[in-house]
Amino acid sequence: METASVFDYRELARKRLPRQLFEFIDGGAFEEQTLAANHEDYSHILLHKRLLRDVSTIETHVQVLGQQLDFPLILAPVGFAGAYARRGEVQAAAAAKRKGIPFCLSTLSICSVEEVCQVAPCWFQLYMLKDRGYCRELLQRAHAAGCPVLLFTVDLPLVGIRWRDIHHAMAAGVSPQTISSRMRTLWQYLTHPRWLLDVVVRGRPLVLANFIKAVPDLKDLSAFRQWVDSRMDASLTWKDLEWVRAQWPGKLVLKGVMDPEDGRQAAALGAGGIVVSNHAGRHLDSTPSTISLLPGIVDRVGDQLEILVDGGIFSGLDIIKALACGARAVLVGRAWTYALAARGETGVGEILDIYRKEMAVAMAHLGVRNVSDIDRNLII
Ligand SMILES: Cc1cc2nc3c(=O)[nH]c(=O)nc-3n(C[C@H](O)[C@H](O)[C@H](O)COP(=O)(O)O)c2cc1C
Repeated sequence: METASVFDYRELARKRLPRQLFEFIDGGAFEEQTLAANHEDYSHILLHKRLLRDVSTIETHVQVLGQQLDFPLILAPVGFAGAYARRGEVQAAAAAKRKGIPFCLSTLSICSVEEVCQVAPCWFQLYMLKDRGYCRELLQRAHAAGCPVLLFTVDLPLVGIRWRDIHHAMAAGVSPQTISSRMRTLWQYLTHPRWLLDVVVRGRPLVLANFIKAVPDLKDLSAFRQWVDSRMDASLTWKDLEWVRAQWPGKLVLKGVMDPEDGRQAAALGAGGIVVSNHAGRHLDSTPSTISLLPGIVDRVGDQLEILVDGGIFSGLDIIKALACGARAVLVGRAWTYALAARGETGVGEILDIYRKEMAVAMAHLGVRNVSDIDRNLII
């Protein structure tokens, strides 16, 4: 069977990856209600079809934070991508560049910001660590490497609890690393030889490269994870946004906003954009879907900053619905990660083609030629 949708890449990733890694990408916090709602709530939005409007040319270009994008999608920051495919962040950045959209590099990447920017200047995402000196240095490195936009993720005071990660010995510092769980993990690795050869043999070094200078003695990924988890700064306040604004000369976007008042405050402190995001429901459950909150946030602060959204966007139709609710563009996280794990750079390019084509076909059927014509009138 040929691949037709993002969901097909999810199934390919399931086969290609050791179960521990697939569940880490795929899972959410607690009962995964928020994770499910993010996608399900798109199915409750119905579109208004119009006829006879000359849709012989469809234009998907859009301006986002001063950049021209071939279509309104950005690859969201996803940690440890180099563990899902060899030098995964470089491969994803190369695919994004070919398709004319930005790739955003996670702080917790296997490839360093310099390695990725050699392929394409990416956006950079920051998690604030307790050591401000190291954060300042990271920001300087990202700017020097050519990153035009910083996403400052502020919705992760503590790493959330994902039952799937505990089941599969992936929750750093939580699950007991018994001999039998280690043996099970080793067995998963050995029974996925294509992944083993691609990542563990050819994808080295498997370290969090942005931190290697801070902790040169750490040797493996789980040691890095424990180090980072212990240094996440749960004491963040709005003052820290001011601090980041002062350090970063480029465009600044606050990621993780779920409340209009937080959006207003971000704008007041100099953010040029926000990402309405619940981190794919990975850290807290029982929060609303992002698409259900988006219109309220747009109504309140849409005139003050650019509003992006992520969570559960698995088709070009979902992109149109997000834009109709007021988003300037969307980010996708798991979708590109499944594609990367399945087929590397080629796979990421393929799902980007799918999103764009699905979007263009739906625009034609809805009677809109340009992204700027997509608005709430399209929603019933
Ligand atoms: C495996 C995984 C790792 C992630 N790592 C990060 C990260 O390092 N930084 C960050 O800001 N968001 C991270 N996210 C959240 C994504 O940036 C994004 O908000 C989310 O995946 C969007 O939802 P979607 O996966 O349904 O598209 C991660 C998400 C996943 C699935």
